[in-house]
Amino acid sequence: MPSMFRSDLLKGKRILVTGGGTGLGKEMADEYAMLGAEIYICGRRGPVLEETAQEISKTRGVKVTPLICDIRVPEAVEDTVQRIFNEGPLDGLVNNAAGNFISRTKDLSPRGFMAISDIVFRGSFFMTLACGKRWIEAKQKANVISILTTWVWNGGPFTVPSAMSKAGLNVMTKSLAVEWAPYGIRLNAIAPGPFPTKGAWERLNPGSMRSKEMGSTEDASSQTNPMGRVGEMQELRNLAVFLMADGVDYLSGETIAIDGAGFLAGGGNFSQLAKLTDADWDSIREMIKGANEKDKAKRTV
Ligand code: HXC
Ligand code: NAP
Repeated sequence: MPSMFRSDLLKGKRILVTGGGTGLGKEMADEYAMLGAEIYICGRRGPVLEETAQEISKTRGVKVTPLICDIRVPEAVEDTVQRIFNEGPLDGLVNNAAGNFISRTKDLSPRGFMAISDIVFRGSFFMTLACGKRWIEAKQKANVISILTTWVWNGGPFTVPSAMSKAGLNVMTKSLAVEWAPYGIRLNAIAPGPFPTKGAWERLNPGSMRSKEMGSTEDASSQTNPMGRVGEMQELRNLAVFLMADGVDYLSGETIAIDGAGFLAGGGNFSQLAKLTDADWDSIREMIKGANEKDKAKRTV
C-alpha cells in the first residue's frame, strides 16, 4: 500500500517521535522522514535508536537524530528538548513511548503500576510541557499527536495502569487543545487497534510470539476484529501524517480510532482473558519477564 501524500509534504518540518526506535514510533518516524521532515527519536536503548536513525536516514535522505532519554525523568526530558531546540524549534511532537503488560490487577504491586504509569501518564505530560512552553514562548505554531488506545473510552481490563494513563492523556489532549489553541498549538490523538509489534506482542499476547503467526488471521486479535485482520502499518502512517501536516488546522482535541471498528463491535480490549487460569497467568508472567529482561539488558539509561 503506497503513501497517500505528496513526497515533499512535510519538508521543512522538525518532528520528535518518542519511542521512535521501534514499532509504531519507528513506522511514523520513517513516514515523516519519507515526506521530507527532519526527525528526532528518543528512548532508553542507545544501540536500538542508533540503528533505526541510520536506517531511516540512509533510505530517506534526511537527518535523523537519536537521543537517549528516559521520559520518566523530568530533568532528562528538559535536557533532551532543550538540546533539540538549541538546533532549532520543533514543529511536532508524537507521544508514542509507552510501557505495558497484561496482568490481573490484583497481582500488581505499586512498582508494577508505576512502571507503566510513570512512562505513559507522567512521561508523556513532561514531554508535552517541555515542548509546549517553548512553543508558547517563541510564538511558534505546533502540533502534538499522542498514541492512545480505544480503552480510553471503555476501560482496559487486565491492562488497568495503561488504560488509566492513556485515559489521562486523552483528557490532556482535550484540555490543552483548548488552553493552547490561542497559541496555534493543536493536540490530537490516535487510538490504534491491534498493529502487531514485537514490543506489544511480547507483553500483551506473549503466547503468539512463539509461532510465526504474529498478526496472521489466526491471531486472536484478527479473529475478534470485524474486518478479520489487524492493522496495516501504512494505514497508521497515513493517519499520523494527516494529523501532522498543514491543512487541517481547525482539527484539534480529537482522538481518532483506527481499529477496523473493533472497539464499536466488541470493545477491543482484553475482557476475554477472564477465562485464564492461575497456571496460565503464571506462565504469561514468566514469558513477559523474559522479554523485559532481554530489553533491559540493552538499555543505556
Ligand atoms: C505483574 C509485572 C509484570 C507482569 C513486570 N512487573 N512485569 N507485574 N505482571 N507481567 C512488575 C515487576 O514485578 C516490578 O514490580 C515492576 O513491574 C517493575 O518491573 P521492571 O522490570 O523493573 O520495570 P521497568 O524496568 O521499569 O520496565 C517497564 C516495563 C517494561 C513497562 C515493565 O515492560 C518496559 O520497559 N516496556 C517498554 C516497552 C513496552 O512495554 N512496549 C509495549 C507497549 S504496547 P516489583 O514490585 O516486583 O518490583 C501498548 C499496546 C497497547 O501499550 C494496545 C494494544 C492493542
Ligand atoms: P514498542 O515497540 O515496545 O514501543 C514502545 C517504545 O517506547 C520503545 O521504543 C521504547 O524504547 C519506548 N520507551 C518505553 N519506555 C520509555 C521511557 N521511559 N523513555 C523513553 N522511551 C521509552 O511498542 P509499540 O507497539 O510500537 O507501541 C507504541 C505505541 O503504540 C505505544 O504508545 C502503545 O501504547 C501504542 N499502541 C500500540 C498498539 C499495537 O497494537 N502495537 C495498539 C494501541 C496502541 P526503550 O525501551 O528503548 O526505551
